[in-house]
Amino acid sequence: MANTLTCLVCDDGRYQKSFQLFLERSSEHQCMRDFIRNMLPEVLSSVGNGKCHVNVIGVGSGSGEIDLEMLSTLRMKHPGVTVDNEVVEPSSQQLLKYKEFVSKNRDLDHVKFTWNKMTASEFEEHWKEKKTTTKADFIHMIQMLYYVKDPEATIDFFQSLLDNNGKLLIILVSGESGWGKLWSTYKHQLCNTEISQCVTTGDIKHHLDSKGVSYQSYELPSQMDITECFTEGDEKGELLLDFLTEVLDFSKTAPPELKEGVLNLLRHPDCSTESDGKVIFNNNLEAIVIDQK
Ligand SMILES: C[S@@+](CC[C@H](N)C(=O)[O-])C[C@H]1O[C@@H](n2cnc3c(N)ncnc32)[C@H](O)[C@@H]1O
Repeated sequence: MANTLTCLVCDDGRYQKSFQLFLERSSEHQCMRDFIRNMLPEVLSSVGNGKCHVNVIGVGSGSGEIDLEMLSTLRMKHPGVTVDNEVVEPSSQQLLKYKEFVSKNRDLDHVKFTWNKMTASEFEEHWKEKKTTTKADFIHMIQMLYYVKDPEATIDFFQSLLDNNGKLLIILVSGESGWGKLWSTYKHQLCNTEISQCVTTGDIKHHLDSKGVSYQSYELPSQMDITECFTEGDEKGELLLDFLTEVLDFSKTAPPELKEGVLNLLRHPDCSTESDGKVIFNNNLEAIVIDQK
């Protein structure tokens, strides 16, 4: 990452604002809901092994909308089962929103929430310090592996927590998406070396293949309207550009050649399609499901 650029996640307020706008401009959560409705029931059918109580861990849960949808699918597949749900999320703003959602939802009496305001690696430390022996039946990491230092080690640790028939679900952008093209071109200028950031499911599958770990994968087609990014000075366009580049105030702080190169690539057919005056970015995601070791 160029010395003059600051990582967007360093400013949680702006990060959360840009993520919210990204959700409004994309079919991100809709494609996850489709996956949860159509594919997840089958994935969850064997978890818990017939037990009447299951342990779930959500890592990087954000405000929990997607987590709550998954909990409802789990309940549908395993009615009567009670759930211990560990939430691992470092943003206090997001945790607060998650708690508000929970307090308004009447169908969660069977779930006990444990709130861990911490990163995935802090949770790992905490888990090891407490010498916890509890195993998990379902662990999910939805769009969060970008923010850890070592995604492979993070996957290995959480996979080691799975019980018999346990499942680890990872959702990230697909290597074939516009994100994949953007990162393969500008990884060195845009990505922070302290965290992985530019990781795609392509990288994760490569790692799993090299270790001989089997997995199932599912394509989640998704789009994002990035038209506003091309109007100089547009506040929302600038916020979206921050999210796309993961750079704080990208428009104002990036060297002109980098900004021009990124904007050109974003509307290039490798990343986007243009129709009716709209620039639609390929936001395809992929879900990877891993079993117990
Ligand atoms: C792109 S959001 C995804 C939120 C949610 N899973 C969703 O899909 O709507 C990424 C989340 O990961 C959290 N996060 C950032 N760094 C993290 C870390 N090191 N460990 C765990 N979560 C992290 C952020 O606070 C944010 O809520």
